Amino acid sequence: MLHRLGAIVATSLTTVATVPTTTAAAATPVGLPMAMTTTKAAAQSITFTTASAGAAAAARPRSSVTSVAHRGASAYAPENTIAAFRLADKQRADMFELDVQETKDHKLVLMHDPTLNRTTNVEQVFPTRSPWRIKDFTYAEIRRLDAGSWFAAKYRGQRVPTLRGALRAMDSSGMGLLLEIKKPELYRGIEGRVADELNRNPSWLIPGRVVVQSFNWGSMRKFHHKMSHVPIGLIGTPRIAQLPKLSSFADQVTPPHRGLVPRYIRRVHSLGMTVLAWTVNDAASMRRLISAGVDGIITNKPDVLARITDS
Ligand code: G3P
Ligand code: CA
Repeated sequence: MLHRLGAIVATSLTTVATVPTTTAAAATPVGLPMAMTTTKAAAQSITFTTASAGAAAAARPRSSVTSVAHRGASAYAPENTIAAFRLADKQRADMFELDVQETKDHKLVLMHDPTLNRTTNVEQVFPTRSPWRIKDFTYAEIRRLDAGSWFAAKYRGQRVPTLRGALRAMDSSGMGLLLEIKKPELYRGIEGRVADELNRNPSWLIPGRVVVQSFNWGSMRKFHHKMSHVPIGLIGTPRIAQLPKLSSFADQVTPPHRGLVPRYIRRVHSLGMTVLAWTVNDAASMRRLISAGVDGIITNKPDVLARITDS
């Protein structure tokens, strides 16, 4: 198995994690600052050394900012599909982000909205099932849906992936994963089911390869107690006064990019957490945020960010 995340070097702190490399030759390093529970003592800058995971990865330059493809390269391919994740890889994102929710029969599927109708043809396939909530459908039903045609005809036939399917499809890419548990308050026990799925796919448990995040910080505290070695991200902008307490279980803060200022980023860093800004699609904002000191940028357009980090 090839892994882009071949070895870890903590550059600003003592090195505390070694990635079990499964490939031999290391190629060009990529900058991938990551929050890691096992390594957390202060803000870190960690460099993953690219293994020989293909020409695209080998050509990747060192960058001090992690590129995260938001729902995949979702400006160009249907969000939360395998096609979008693969395109993110081609566009040299370091990680892909996805949204996990749960079917009626407790299968973990990838979708942003709590309902199926914006990004699938559910209204045609199941016209009487309004409001088409994911949690009211079995996985066998959801498998019948087309999750690509709404975006563009050439993506017809893309399915709603399961988390398991995405982990398997993307494993050999060597990319990292920013896994959002979407609306955990709707799916009692989802934290345990996500943890079980990750445990079933240990190649994703290489230190720093997966970060689990949510808008629901209570759910993230719960997840941390189940899998304390997996870094936790908090989506939103916690108040400065809240940060010390949250840093007892969180490793990353994921605020919306507007209004994000260097002073806030420095405070998060001082508590040993990293900052990933979302959702940033224009070059000017990307440059501003890099100057402000963010560790990562979550974007629908990883190609735009790659051009900046190349230059
Ligand atoms: O990673 C942060 C971002 O994904 C949160 O926003 O609504 O696109 O899931 P949303
Ligand atoms: Ca998300």
